[in-house]
Amino acid sequence: MRFCLFGTVAVVALLGLLAPVANAQAGYRMVGEPIQITNGLRVNLIKAAGNNTFGNAVVPKAWSGEAANLTLDAEFQSNYRLRIKRLSNFFFKVFNNTARFEVPLKVNPATGGNQNPLYDIQFTNEPLFSFRVIRRSTGTVLFDTSPGDFVFADQYLTLSWTPASENVYGIGENEQYTFKHDFSQNLTWPLFTRDQPPNHTANMYGVHPHYTVLENDGNSHSVVIVNSNAQQFSMLSGPLIEYKTNGGLLDFYFFLGPTPEDTVKQYTELVGRPQLPAYWSLGFHLCRIGYTTIDRMQAAVNRTAFYGIPQDVQYGDGDIKYKYLDFTYSNETFPGLPEYVRELKAKGIKFVTILDPFISSGEDPEEYRPLKLGNEMDAWVKNANGSYVLGKVWPQDPVYFPDYSKNETKEWWKTCIKEFHDLLEYDGIWIDMNEPANFDNNNTGSICSVNSINNPEYTPQIEGGYLAQQTLCPDSQHAAGNHYDVHSLYGWFESEPTLQAAREGTGKRSFVLTRSTFLGSGNWVAHWLGDNWSQWSNLHTSIIGVLQFNQWGIPFVGADMCGFLGNTTEQMCQRWMQLGAFYPFARNHNGGYQDQDPGWWGETVANSSRKALMVRYTLLPYLYTLFYKSVTEGGTVARALWHNFPTEEETRGIDRQFMWGSGLLINPVLEENATSVDAYFPNARFYDYYDGSEVATKGDFETLDAPLDKINVAVAGGNVLPTQEPALNTELSRNNPFGLIVALDGEGKASGSLFYDDGDTIGTIPNEAYFLADFTVSNKTISSTVVKNGYADMSSKRLTTIRLLGQEATVVGVTVNGEAITSFSNLPTGEVLISNLTAILTTPLLITWLEN
Ligand code: NOJ
Repeated sequence: MRFCLFGTVAVVALLGLLAPVANAQAGYRMVGEPIQITNGLRVNLIKAAGNNTFGNAVVPKAWSGEAANLTLDAEFQSNYRLRIKRLSNFFFKVFNNTARFEVPLKVNPATGGNQNPLYDIQFTNEPLFSFRVIRRSTGTVLFDTSPGDFVFADQYLTLSWTPASENVYGIGENEQYTFKHDFSQNLTWPLFTRDQPPNHTANMYGVHPHYTVLENDGNSHSVVIVNSNAQQFSMLSGPLIEYKTNGGLLDFYFFLGPTPEDTVKQYTELVGRPQLPAYWSLGFHLCRIGYTTIDRMQAAVNRTAFYGIPQDVQYGDGDIKYKYLDFTYSNETFPGLPEYVRELKAKGIKFVTILDPFISSGEDPEEYRPLKLGNEMDAWVKNANGSYVLGKVWPQDPVYFPDYSKNETKEWWKTCIKEFHDLLEYDGIWIDMNEPANFDNNNTGSICSVNSINNPEYTPQIEGGYLAQQTLCPDSQHAAGNHYDVHSLYGWFESEPTLQAAREGTGKRSFVLTRSTFLGSGNWVAHWLGDNWSQWSNLHTSIIGVLQFNQWGIPFVGADMCGFLGNTTEQMCQRWMQLGAFYPFARNHNGGYQDQDPGWWGETVANSSRKALMVRYTLLPYLYTLFYKSVTEGGTVARALWHNFPTEEETRGIDRQFMWGSGLLINPVLEENATSVDAYFPNARFYDYYDGSEVATKGDFETLDAPLDKINVAVAGGNVLPTQEPALNTELSRNNPFGLIVALDGEGKASGSLFYDDGDTIGTIPNEAYFLADFTVSNKTISSTVVKNGYADMSSKRLTTIRLLGQEATVVGVTVNGEAITSFSNLPTGEVLISNLTAILTTPLLITWLEN
């Protein structure tokens, strides 16, 4: 491994390259030379003596428990993965009597060895210790910590660095107005899980200290900090990233890409990749809080069917519960709900129900088994004095908060979820309010004792300003640690046992939707973007959220279509149904007063919703195959244009359009009364999804007609997209014939895959109970290779239609496996439609065409 220790000359040269250092005050010095350790280097650091300032700096603030010594380990975990971890040493622990909190993240090893690393690391000691990570092949400095402070104290840790470019994406969960950070605005993004509707920089439900950089030359890397304490990132002009946290460690992983998709694959290799979603869960979901009666829920389902709008999932929100108690339903307002759920299932519609992470303490334990069992299993979070923490949320009485970091609690939760299935045959579980929310501490957190955990020396700029606000006191006790450290892990600890229980309860793959997420949550759950607003601006910001969560390894994500808070309008809902039809997770959910399910509006919204959702349902085999790839390879499902076109500069700021994989470009309308949309088309061949005509514009914007009932969608040349005829739900559509959209690139080539299985069984990938075919197209020939033929039902399915896009000369003949067929036509738009095929997908296919 190469590293280099700068001499004085090199240091001077380095400083010359950097933004002016105004205030580098606090810091460390290296003791001796870096030491070789297994797979890396160790640097011993000592707190620099005296007033460590240079320039015209002010005297640094003294923080309690500043580490006198630190070790920094740079582990070369693979050619593409570098870990840099600063550990406070033994003396620090003894004198401060506090072991540093470490996130109990299960980290998967990297592969491929570290013989040819894509990076170098350089250390300097002048004027104070700093390091740089450099991309070897280009010399680009990816991360340079020389500007700014470096403090490592008990409750205050800070480090600043210069990123490789201003093309920085990620950090959340907050409401970002642009996907690409705007460093000129000097914004600070606090991270701390919170029951918080989108409000720009305000910290929201999840914590993802993870960002991706597109270097100016089109290479890409990403950086994650494994830290769950309250923290913040300031994106300052320069560009400069200033990081601050009030606990844990400074533990960085670098993923060297070099493509944007590589960085996501490398990151998800570390934290774990998603589960394969149940096929039905890729359909349309319908939800609202405030049906208030079963009749109104049924009316919404009936309206949806009446207008021929596909629906795969109906939800029960909190109002189905008896007294807002988990694991119940109200016999008064939702009488016959279990029977209705069975009725829905018979029609092919699944049922997902909500669980909140709090259990009312006010019920008679003999009557309310979750309480009795939870008490017996000592399942609740405790106060510092050992009593149970009580809070106030939906139930009328004070509630206990399950400590999901504790094994007994996980078992308790799983038992309750499994038993609940005997009452209500849910297909999936929705876990909400798991930041965790608590209405008791709404103001100043003044109900917490005064101590250094509840009132730390440093608090990042989180909403409300107090760690306890709207949640538990930081000194509450979980098995995994103080609430202070594990607060943002609450929903994360809840997620895995919920999925396990939902699977045991249903016996199927099931589905878990969560509000709060952390690094690696994508292993178990889907996510929706929370309590968004029925406002036009939220259509745009939802795309940014979807793109971010895809980079964070949680590709099954979407926003509440038509908006959650406030009443939507007819046109907004119409446009949002179109946009949401292309969220990986497509759910209309409503917290406003007025209904907003697509059928409620009557023909206008209903018809255009049906049209958009029918496109989704047609493309479900493609979407499912993308999910399969995200499970097995770890990349994104929905992605920004720059993921596919990283060297095309214009794409870097685009966040009003997005792509599914490499094959589909979605160009939605996001503004009121707009009937056209300015869409950027990268410098490649693209085709209109609807009529197959080639888009003339390349590497530029084009204004597309977008009447109210249409969302523009384009297919990218070079791709083969598998399709299936749509129907009212996936149980029905799965019986329909398949098709292929073959979109040729500039060389007349294309490729793609089809993954398919029974859609519902657990473990079809490891058990090899699936079908996978690869398609390649070149020289006017489509050929398929059957990679896996493990799904028995596949042999009964037929491929009946091929849409060939980008074939310029007239086609005069087509053969399928050597036999000439006549059912093809050259459409005026340029598309060649091959129909009435009866091709079997489980045997290799060879389809050729002849041109004039
Ligand atoms: C808050 C959730 O974000 C929202 O989606 C849900 O409807 C309400 N809780 C009521 O359960």
